[in-house]
Formats: sequence, structure tokens, C-alpha cells
Amino acid sequence: MRRKIAAGNWKMNGSSAALSELDALARLLPTERHADVVICPPAQLLSQAVSTAKPHSIHIGAQDCHMQTAGAFTGDISAPMIADTGATYVITGHSERRAAHHEADADVRAKTQSAQAAGLTAILCIGETLAHRQANRTLEIIADQLAGSLPDDVTADSLIIAYEPIWAIGTGEVATLPQITEVHDFIRGQLTTRFGEATGNSIPLLYGGSVKPDNAATIFEAENVDGALVGGASLKASDFAPIIAALAAS
Ligand code: 13P
Repeated sequence: MRRKIAAGNWKMNGSSAALSELDALARLLPTERHADVVICPPAQLLSQAVSTAKPHSIHIGAQDCHMQTAGAFTGDISAPMIADTGATYVITGHSERRAAHHEADADVRAKTQSAQAAGLTAILCIGETLAHRQANRTLEIIADQLAGSLPDDVTADSLIIAYEPIWAIGTGEVATLPQITEVHDFIRGQLTTRFGEATGNSIPLLYGGSVKPDNAATIFEAENVDGALVGGASLKASDFAPIIAALAAS
């Protein structure tokens, strides 16, 4: 049995007032929880979020890390710095960073390695553009991103993969269950081929892209979907809690 994970990516949203959503979320979640909950707030909230979330067993993650541990990299934060806040997860290779910050697969791989070395669990994102999908190149792109972004020495405890089709992010256009099933089954196959059955079958796979309370249960029907990476609908506890409940019930 793979663990189930509901991760919220707040992106560049939220000041300290937003931390009240963590308390609100905890109030809406059952104490007997059947899914891990991770919130990735913007970097300035990490330490406070760790303190707020700890009594509620909600995990905190960052949205990016630098590949080096320290140095002259103005504006960046490293994986050991993130770990020092008490956060335990970090997103690597989100499509918004790949696009806006020109992060290549090799960068994502180095960041993921740095995260794992610092004891963080990396949530490594991959996904195709609309043009790639329309050209029937989705699986080829996914295979390339996995080959280029994944370190060779992954362990199932320190790695989660999130499939986020770029055309479904923030658009309200969610991938269909057959589309999600096809890609997640393909990712699972790639992982078992590269890392062996035991490790390949243990790495959780999340779907991301316009996951909402009303479509979550359908998405979680896919066998190789172990959870979700949620953007907009993770900002409000009243939206995120029903998604977590749908995952726990799946
Ligand atoms: P939305 O859920 O807002 O589409 O964002 C998905 C995402 O990019 C999460 O990392």
C-alpha cells in the first residue's frame, strides 16, 4: 500500500494572515486521517507555518530550492535552509519554474538531489504542454522529463512525482480519467523499469491541474493516482478539506 498524499501549493499567495487557514483546515479534518497533508506556502511563511501546522500533523514544504547548499546566489534558498525551518518537503521542477526561470531537467535533477541530501522529500513535477499533447507527444515528453530530472539514487521515502499537464494548471480544464490513467500507468512503468519493482512501485504519484472538490473523487479512482498537488483549491480550507476527504475515502 502506497501512502496517500494531498499537497497544497499556495504559489505566490499568502501573508501571515493566511496561516489561519491551517488551523481552519485542521478543524475540518478528521483526527483519524488516511492521507498525509502537505502545505507548501511561500518561503517567508515557512517557519511560522511549521509552528502552526505541527500540532495538527500537517506537513510543510517549500516551493523550490537551490541546487547548491550555500553561496553567492542572491534571492535563492537552499535545501538545508528549508530543512532548518522545520519544513520536510520541497517542490522541484514545477512547470512555472521550468518556464519562468528556465529550469532544465538537469537543474531539476540537481535540486532534487540537493533536497534528498538535506533530508527533505522532493515533490518532483513533470507535465506536457498543450502543443505536445495535440502532437501526440505526451508520453515521449514524460519519458524524457523522467530520464533527465530523476536522480539515479532515489528512495521511495524521499521522492514523490507529480504529473501536472501544463494545459490543466489554473485553467479549470482538468485532464480526463483516461488521460490521467494512461500517463500515471506509463510513469509507474518507467519507474519500475529504472529502479526495480520494489522502489518503482513505492513512489507515490500525484495528479495536479485544476483539482477541485467536485472532480477529486473521479481523479482518485485511477489505480496509480496516490493523491493530488493542488493549487488554487488549496488556498481555502473549505475547498481543500473535501479534496483530502475524497482521497482518504478512495
Ligand atoms: P491549480 O490547482 O490551480 O490548477 O494548480 C495546480 C498546480 O500547479 C499545483 O502545483
